[in-house]
Amino acid sequence: MPNRIAIFASGSGSNAENIINYFSGRPDAVFPFILCNKKEAFVHERAKKLQIPSITFDKNQLENGEILALLQKEEIDFIVLAGFLLKIPESMIAAYPNKIVNIHPALLPDYGGKGMYGMKVHEAVVANNERESGITIHYVNERYDEGGIISQYKCEVLPGDSPENVAQKVHALEYEYFPKVIEELLNK
Ligand code: GAR
Repeated sequence: MPNRIAIFASGSGSNAENIINYFSGRPDAVFPFILCNKKEAFVHERAKKLQIPSITFDKNQLENGEILALLQKEEIDFIVLAGFLLKIPESMIAAYPNKIVNIHPALLPDYGGKGMYGMKVHEAVVANNERESGITIHYVNERYDEGGIISQYKCEVLPGDSPENVAQKVHALEYEYFPKVIEELLNK
């Protein structure tokens, strides 16, 4: 039986697309839908191209259990947060122990927490003259970016690098490693 994976995204969705392409045509994973809390997000266009339904919901539906009920009805057994910016409610974490993973575009515990997402992270890394950054793949718990770390991968930050340069290096790490780490977790 394939793992039934739900991807949550809030923005562009390039990680969502990359993960779905990685598992395309394989028997071990299916992606019944992408869930997104923003109607205008570009991830909906990517979903169309991939011929996967994308569902828009709001914070209230996440918090009142509607989304959890949908996941259970659709027999989802693994959840991937790929650029998803809302907090996952405790009821969902309890229903999916160690089955919800997030990617963060920095080396946690540095540059994490509420408000630290996307370009804001890379801007802070450059402003602080860091010489390295990277990605953290971690389990999701009830606090932003504090769940158990599964793996981290690093890249160099060179003097003169802009936040956009760092974003590019971090995205490259995300595209290379996030699908592979998901694959390992599914086969555990
Ligand atoms: C990714 O870089 C991801 O690590 C980051 O948002 C970007 C989403 O890009 N996530 C966070 O900042 C979570 N705190 P994408 O929509 O193109 O995949």
